[in-house]
Amino acid sequence: MNPTRPIAVLGGTGPEGFGLALRWAQAGETVIIGSRDAKRAQDAGEKIKQRAGVSAKVSGDENSVASYAADIIVLTIPFEGHATLLKQVKPSIRPGTTVIDATVPLAASVGGRATRTLGVWQGSAAQQAAELVPKGVSVVAAFQNLGAELLNAEGPVDCDVIVCGDDPKANQVARTLAIKIPGVRAIDGGKLENARILEQITALLIGLNIRHKGYSGIRITGLPPSAYEVV
Ligand SMILES: NC(=O)c1ccc[n+]([C@@H]2O[C@H](COP(=O)([O-])OP(=O)(O)OC[C@H]3O[C@@H](n4cnc5c(N)ncnc54)[C@H](OP(=O)(O)O)[C@@H]3O)[C@@H](O)[C@H]2O)c1
Repeated sequence: MNPTRPIAVLGGTGPEGFGLALRWAQAGETVIIGSRDAKRAQDAGEKIKQRAGVSAKVSGDENSVASYAADIIVLTIPFEGHATLLKQVKPSIRPGTTVIDATVPLAASVGGRATRTLGVWQGSAAQQAAELVPKGVSVVAAFQNLGAELLNAEGPVDCDVIVCGDDPKANQVARTLAIKIPGVRAIDGGKLENARILEQITALLIGLNIRHKGYSGIRITGLPPSAYEVV
């Protein structure tokens, strides 16, 4: 992997991708905001620089261009655009790339409630992604339960991030990025098929936020310290 390991955040003009990109830029990572519109991506990159400092290594480009330049691709797009975007960028995803999918198939994507998820034939959005990426590219599911409001606020985030995926190396890459966000602990959540549970937890968290007027996250307790170590 390239020592600077550029991270392309597709849909990084939206609140979730922007918040992740901001946190990683603040941590010194090289970030490329991806968008359907290169100018919109560049504008988002400039906004991140205003918060992370002028020396922040952040740029913006059209989704396919950003994907080709990256070692890690993070998907932060609404579920309705998920399959179409992946098919579009597929030729630009290089072998060896890690794809981290944060997409949640909320029923809101088809006019339903944000407190419910859609049934996805493959089991989850992340498993759908795994079917659509080129051979030699690993998909992991992560960050579904880390809300944009928390990411875009100042200070540490009071949340754990569970990473699910079938490739241990890719899982480790995602956990390495998760712990770059102050306050976050990262946990290996097992196989990619567990992504459907992560995605459903988000719908529950959205319901809790509405009911109790807050910004909820999750913490996993009772595990030995080694469960939170990323080596
Ligand atoms: N918001 C949260 O707190 C949160 C938390 C956890 C997970 N998530 C998940 O993360 C994803 C992004 O959330 P978000 O709230 O940031 O979403 P969003 O604002 O609705 O969308 C993010 C970006 O995706 C691009 N986009 C929109 N429709 C698209 C389409 N049909 N095809 C391709 N790109 C499209 C847009 O960028 P361009 O127009 O610039 O291309 C947009 O700025 C969702 O799947 C969501 O469920 C969100």
